[in-house]
Amino acid sequence: MEIVRQIAALKTLRQSLQRNGKSLALVPTMGALHEGHLQLIRQARKENDVVIASIYVNPTQFNNPSDLEKYPRNLLADLEMLRREKVDIVFAPEDAEMYPKPAKLSFDFFELEQVLEGAFRPGHFNGVAIVVSKLFHAVQPDRAYFGQKDLQQVSIIHQLVEDLSFDIEIRTVPTVRESDGLAMSSRNLRLDEEQRLVAPALYENLTIAKTELLNGKSWFETKHTRLQALNQLAVVQLEYLELIDLDGFRVAEAYNPASKQAICIAAYIGEIRLIDNILLG
Ligand code: PAJ
Repeated sequence: MEIVRQIAALKTLRQSLQRNGKSLALVPTMGALHEGHLQLIRQARKENDVVIASIYVNPTQFNNPSDLEKYPRNLLADLEMLRREKVDIVFAPEDAEMYPKPAKLSFDFFELEQVLEGAFRPGHFNGVAIVVSKLFHAVQPDRAYFGQKDLQQVSIIHQLVEDLSFDIEIRTVPTVRESDGLAMSSRNLRLDEEQRLVAPALYENLTIAKTELLNGKSWFETKHTRLQALNQLAVVQLEYLELIDLDGFRVAEAYNPASKQAICIAAYIGEIRLIDNILLG
C-alpha cells in the first residue's frame, strides 16, 4: 500500500495507472474509519482494479470550529485497516497541501442545500464540493464511492458531477449500522456511555415512522408523534425530522409511493450531532 501526501505525486501515480488501462476507484473519507467506511472500500475493491482511499479532515466543510477540533483522528489505525482491505493507494494530505491559500471558489447548490444539512450547516456543502472536486481532478477515478448515510451529500455530489462534467460514476453504498441500529459514524466515538445508550433512538424513530407511513398514517400525524417521543429524551436535542422527495431534494408534505422518498433526521446527543435517514418504498 502506497501512502501519498502530495497532490503532484498522486497525479503522477494515477497517470501511470491510466497508461496500464486499469479501472480506478476513489473512496473519499475523513478518517477515524469504521465498518461503514470499510463497506465502501470493499465494494470499490470488488468493482475496480485499483482502489485509492483518501483520508483528510477537510476544514472548509466544518461550520463549527469545536466540531473540527474534536473530530477524531487516528491515522495509524486507519492505515492498518486500509492495508487489511488491500487498498492500493492512500492519499493523506496536510492542510497546507490541500489549501496552500484559502480557496476563493464558492459553490451554491441552491434548493439542493436549502434544507436539512445545508440549512443547519451553512457553507458545509461548499466545503464538501471544493474538496471532492480537488480529489476528483487529482485522481480522475472511473468510480467514486459514497455512503447513503449522508444522503444529501450524495445528491450534491451527483449535481457536482453533472454540472462540471466529471466522467465519474457515483456509487452509493447502504448505511452500515451497529447491532442496535445506530448508524456507524466517526462521531459515535465521542458519545459517553449514557449518550451511546440513547443514540439508537434516532433510527428506532425513523423505523417506526416508516412503518406508520406504509400503513397509511399521514406524515403530519406520524411526525407529530415521533417529535413527541424524541423530545421526551433528555439528552436528545432534535434539529430536524423531515420527509424528503429525493428527486430535487425537497421537503415533502405527504408520503407518495410513486416518488423516491426518505425520512431524514439530525439531532444533538449531548454535544454530538448525529444524522441518519431511512428510504421509503
Ligand atoms: P466521512 O464522514 O468520513 O465519510 C466518508 C464516506 O463514508 C461518506 O461517503 C459517508 O457517507 C460514508 N459513511 C459514513 N458512515 C457510513 C455508514 N455508517 N454506512 C455507510 N457509509 C458511511 O463524508 C465525508 O467523510 C466527507 O464529507 C467527504 C466526502 C470525505 C469529503 O470531505
